[in-house]
Parts: sequence; structure tokens; C-alpha cells
Amino acid sequence: MKGVILAGGLGTRLYPLTHVTNKHLLPVYNKPMIFYPVETLVKSGIKDILVVVSGPHVGHFLGVLKNGKELGVNHLEYAYQEKPDGGIADALSLAEDFADGDSTTVILGDNTTDVDISDAIKSFSKGATVFLKQVSDPERFGVAYLDPSDSKKITKIVEKPKDGKSSYAITGLYIFDLKVFEYIKKCSPDWAGRGELEITQVIDFYLKTDDLHWEELKGFWRDAGTFETLLDVSNFWAGKIKESNE
Ligand code: G1P
Repeated sequence: MKGVILAGGLGTRLYPLTHVTNKHLLPVYNKPMIFYPVETLVKSGIKDILVVVSGPHVGHFLGVLKNGKELGVNHLEYAYQEKPDGGIADALSLAEDFADGDSTTVILGDNTTDVDISDAIKSFSKGATVFLKQVSDPERFGVAYLDPSDSKKITKIVEKPKDGKSSYAITGLYIFDLKVFEYIKKCSPDWAGRGELEITQVIDFYLKTDDLHWEELKGFWRDAGTFETLLDVSNFWAGKIKESNE
């Protein structure tokens, strides 16, 4: 199993902070944001990691992550996404050579969680596994609709739904087999009307071939892409550190 962290994009929702550096290097309490997804991977036993970067501050990543050794990474690679607004699936397409026939655990660089995903990784065999979390604001996320008669089954995937009919956000943590790269090539920038290659369309391909599984993230999870969530996430980790020092 290889690990991929997607840390591209312009982070426009965080201007003017992201004029200073890339969103994923901004502080979340006492660490750069990207340390959290690196730690989630390392904790789950994945130490072979690719970080996909883009945008005007790409050089900053090297100075912060260096060769990854301080964070417990054995092998750290970087890939450069030419179009920072190409979308998550476009960024992931750059991991094909790195994956080299293995499955990949993928985390969005602005997602932080205290959940240990080792068991899900160990039991993964094929297809895709997505991690869902119930939220009060599903319209901000990619969302999974569950079958009312068999909640293990996902029936539909929508990016930023307006109907409020499902509260299950698809978090930015995914496990994919090799088919992911085939599906990315079939993605269209019009799928969700954002002009980007959407990871939710990739997940939809897995759904349509009956190879999509899900697990609930039981613990803290949030992305830190807005001022409000950046503050929430920082407060959560500050509280956690305080608790562990008591
Ligand atoms: C992205 C994904 C979305 C997912 C979210 C999690 O949203 O497109 O499916 O639920 O990350 O952080 P975006 O940050 O592009 O709005």
C-alpha cells in the first residue's frame, strides 16, 4: 500500500493567507496543516508517500517536509500538478507511476482526523473504500446516499448536493485499487459543473461497477479549507494536546 497526499490548489477561500504560502502549510495549532495527513498515514503503517503539489508556493514544501524522515516517512516523493485548478482527480493522476501496481491510500492535504485507519487498510482487497462522516452541512461536501434497506450499500454519489437528503459526507480519505487511474482518464470536468476532474466522479465509477465500500470515520474529522474550519480544527488539536498534558 502506498500513500498519496493531495496538496495542490490555490486555496482561494483562504486569501489573503494563501498569498503567503500554500494552504497545506498554514498552521493548524502548533504544526503545518500537512503534518496531520502525513501522521495519519505513518500511524497506519504507510511510509512510502507521494505529495502532489501545485500553485505559486510549491518550493515551500521541501523546506517544511524535507525528506520526511523527521515525521517517520521512509520514502517521500513530490509530484507537480501543472494546473492548480485541475481538480483532485487530476492531481491523483500524477500518482500512477509512483503506485507502480500497488493500491493507494489517498488523503486530501487539508483533512485532519484522529481516527486510526490501519484496520481498514489491512482489510482492503479491491475496489475503493471511502470514509463517511455525518455532518450538519452536507452541501459543502461530496455526499453518499445510502440504501434505506441496506445501509452498507451506497446508491448515489453527488458533489455539493442541494437536496439535503443525505448527511453522509465523503471525507477526503480514500483507498483505491489500481483501477483508479483508468477511471480518472474517463472523468469529465463538467461532471459536477466546477470545471475540474472530480474525485467524486472517480468514486461514482466504482459505484457503477459495484466495487465501492464504505466505513464510518468514528472520531474527529474536518477539512480546514475555510477560515471557520481552520479555526475549528486548530481548536480541536489544541484541546487534544491540552488533554494529553493533563
Ligand atoms: C473536496 C471534495 C469533496 C470532499 C471534500 C472533503 O471538496 O471534492 O468530495 O467531500 O473535499 O474535504 P472541495 O475541497 O473541493 O470543496
